[in-house]
Amino acid sequence: MERGRQRRILKQHVKTDQLLGVDAVPLGSPAESPPPSVAVADRLTRARKLEVLTTIDEQEVRNCIKCDLCASRTQTVFGEGDPDAAIMFVGEGPGQTEDEQGRPFVGRAGELLNKMIEAMGLRRQDVYIANVVKCRPPENRTPTPVEAATCGDYLRRQIQTISPTAIVSLGGPAAKLLLNTSIGITALRGQWHELPYLGPGGSSIAVMPTFHPAFLLRQYTQDNRAKVWSDLKQVMQFVKDHPRS
Ligand code: URA
Repeated sequence: MERGRQRRILKQHVKTDQLLGVDAVPLGSPAESPPPSVAVADRLTRARKLEVLTTIDEQEVRNCIKCDLCASRTQTVFGEGDPDAAIMFVGEGPGQTEDEQGRPFVGRAGELLNKMIEAMGLRRQDVYIANVVKCRPPENRTPTPVEAATCGDYLRRQIQTISPTAIVSLGGPAAKLLLNTSIGITALRGQWHELPYLGPGGSSIAVMPTFHPAFLLRQYTQDNRAKVWSDLKQVMQFVKDHPRS
């Protein structure tokens, strides 16, 4: 990458991190399940959060050429929703429809995700939806660890900015990448995990892994639906028990 561009990107990172009052943090750590601690105070207003997110999207993500996924994308898919949402959903990466529209979860899996959100008594615009990688992996393959780590910096800053009370990770790859674990989704789901350092003042953010809506569409059994609903109910209860200040 050209040095001037590298310097501009670095400066932008430093600016956002200064704004958020954070030095340097890893995205994930080994998965654990102690009771999650809760983000107590939000430092930024909703308007400021929107401003930070828009800057990251427009000045960095849209022009990103940090990994090979940029070569095959139609457009980047940054994420959307309430910048001050209590609940953030994190999927794996854009599919074909998302790549065409530049929005996350707008295909068939997205329709089911919308239903899940509505079942929680919320509207899509009440939550924030993003992915681990911002460009569609060819043939919808799972992002490689290098792609996930490279793009993970954007997700880290999205999480820091939004500072949600809880993150729902969708599917095995998103949970593995977010929590930096090799444990499968069947064992991870239904239990609280912690994403360290990304909450206000370096606190942890609670993560509830659940099945990906695309998996549910493929295996739409009573048992799988009940498991996802049970996970989402835990999230609803957690958010109720920990109101945002
Ligand atoms: N699957 C994902 O993981 N993310 C999307 O945005 C769409 C489908």
